[in-house]
Amino acid sequence: MLFRFLRGSKALFILGVLFAVLGSLFELIIPRITGYTLDFVIGSSGSGGPSSSLAGKLLALFGENTELREHLFAVALLIALLGFLAALCKYLFRVTNAKGAETFMMTMRNQIFAHIESLPFSWHMKNHTGDIIQRCTSDTNTVKRFVADQLTTVVRSSIFLGLSLFFMIRTNLKLSIVPLVAIPLIIAYSAYFHKKIAKQFLECDENEGILSNIAQENLTGVRVVRAFGREKYEQEKFAKQNQKYTSLWIRLCMFLSAFWGTGDLISGLQIMLILVFGTKMCVMGEMTTGELITFIYYNAMVIWPVRMLGRVISEMSKAGVAIGRIAYIVNSEEEADAKAALTPDMNGDIDFQDVSFAYTDHDNLQKVGFTVKAGTTCGILGSTGSGKSTLMHLLDRLYPVGSGKITISGVDIADIKASHLRKNIAMVLQEPFLFSRTIRENIAMGLPEDTPEEEIDRRIDEAVEIACLKETIDGFDKGLDTFVGERGVTLSGGQKQRLAIARTIVQNAPIMVFDDSLSAVDTETDAKIRNALLERTKGTTTILISHRITTLMHADRIVVLDKGKIVESGTHEELLKKGGLYASIYDIQTLKEDEQ
Ligand SMILES: Nc1ncnc2c1ncn2[C@@H]1O[C@H](COP(=O)(O)OP(=O)(O)O)[C@@H](O)[C@H]1O
Ligand SMILES: [Mg+2]
Repeated sequence: MLFRFLRGSKALFILGVLFAVLGSLFELIIPRITGYTLDFVIGSSGSGGPSSSLAGKLLALFGENTELREHLFAVALLIALLGFLAALCKYLFRVTNAKGAETFMMTMRNQIFAHIESLPFSWHMKNHTGDIIQRCTSDTNTVKRFVADQLTTVVRSSIFLGLSLFFMIRTNLKLSIVPLVAIPLIIAYSAYFHKKIAKQFLECDENEGILSNIAQENLTGVRVVRAFGREKYEQEKFAKQNQKYTSLWIRLCMFLSAFWGTGDLISGLQIMLILVFGTKMCVMGEMTTGELITFIYYNAMVIWPVRMLGRVISEMSKAGVAIGRIAYIVNSEEEADAKAALTPDMNGDIDFQDVSFAYTDHDNLQKVGFTVKAGTTCGILGSTGSGKSTLMHLLDRLYPVGSGKITISGVDIADIKASHLRKNIAMVLQEPFLFSRTIRENIAMGLPEDTPEEEIDRRIDEAVEIACLKETIDGFDKGLDTFVGERGVTLSGGQKQRLAIARTIVQNAPIMVFDDSLSAVDTETDAKIRNALLERTKGTTTILISHRITTLMHADRIVVLDKGKIVESGTHEELLKKGGLYASIYDIQTLKEDEQ
């Protein structure tokens, strides 16, 4: 899964590996030189070592063995030089790797965000915001650590380890049996633990998700918490979850400590065995002192990478979990259009044909059928939960219809390009969401992309006028450039709804839907907005949803929805005459208004 994010960073990672190989080679020559010097320069054998030895060749550059004995500082200089080159390679490795990892992360963040934006609405409804955010922050950070630290450590350690073993075998094959047996053992032991630990990490992560969800919900719902005096209850709920989360981590840390401790023990044994056998072989004359020193030197050098490898492998289990959690997002299917998606004229009739739909198991809409003639206004009346918003979700193709179909100008919306469909249906939602931007920017969101610059201000002003928002905006010092949302002024429910209406009006779409969007506006302003709209939207096909009869009594046709079914339809007068549900709701509502 991670390969898809490699764009732009692949070359850097390859360069990094190259530096790792070079650095390891420089570092691994040093013990050889030490051993050679001990045996042939200082040692009794005096003249000439094996001429094929790389260390011998390097030292020969500085002079004969006998000469070198007089000038040992030359040997020291060579070792210092090699040490410097190794350090330089390590530095370059770190730099290229850091660059690679950051580029990798940037690509990953961009791709995940773009993908989330194109996931279907139903996906967003199904998944908790807190959980998605956690996957995008904490999990991507884990992956970053994986790529920037762990993976590079594995690559570098493996290279170093491979080369070290090669050099050890060349120094003394018999003694190499000890590390050759111990190293795979340590790694296998790590892998075993790694498997065990993965499950615990998953549990920890899930519980962290629950914890951040509680916190997030309390932050967004802070008013409700205060209003109902639920602070103590929420605190206790948080504390309980926090306790659970903490004890899971403690258990995990204990597990990890045992793992690391055992690793230390095995490494200690490895050193001991080499000392015992190596010394014995030296005494028996099977190897020279220089070779033993070289070998011990190498063995000390590999202990650290092996331990690191073990540790990193165990840490990588966490990345495995995080990668899985990100993969869940990345592998979720994007919203797709039919192969030959159409972009028909949207000025025709909207036809709901026996539309049925269920969110889960029980029917939220049952065989709903009615037509909104082009250019007319259709009212939909129904109590809360009767399925009005659901019907509009289906019209906007946020969910696929269960059975039946919806057509616009005779074309099934399932065949229409989603972007074309939504561009042409301007929808005001019951609970409008405003971005933390200026009022102007919030309204301009509705403007089609091809709006000419000089038109923008005029259209925004016109929309503000129709939505009865002018007075409100004039009341702010900065007018249209006032910030709304978390960092700016807080608008009332009715003001927000009117801003959302303005945002929809600038869209200039042939179909307009007002989903309970005047519910928080007083009846007088409601009427004013409707009249202004009527003027402006002549020829626009309009769907007006409300539970308030006065809002939609002037519509050309009214459909009454109850528990997901159409119970009656007709004009205001026809429905009153019928004396059914509509008439009784009308009686109740007018009675209330008379009382007021
Ligand atoms: N995302 C959802 N998942 C499951 N059920 C839902 C969802 N949204 C709405 N419902 C249910 O569908 C029914 C109709 O809801 P809705 O269309 O919002 O009603 P209305 O807009 O008429 O008030 C309700 O019973 C509601 O509980
Ligand atoms: Mg609704």
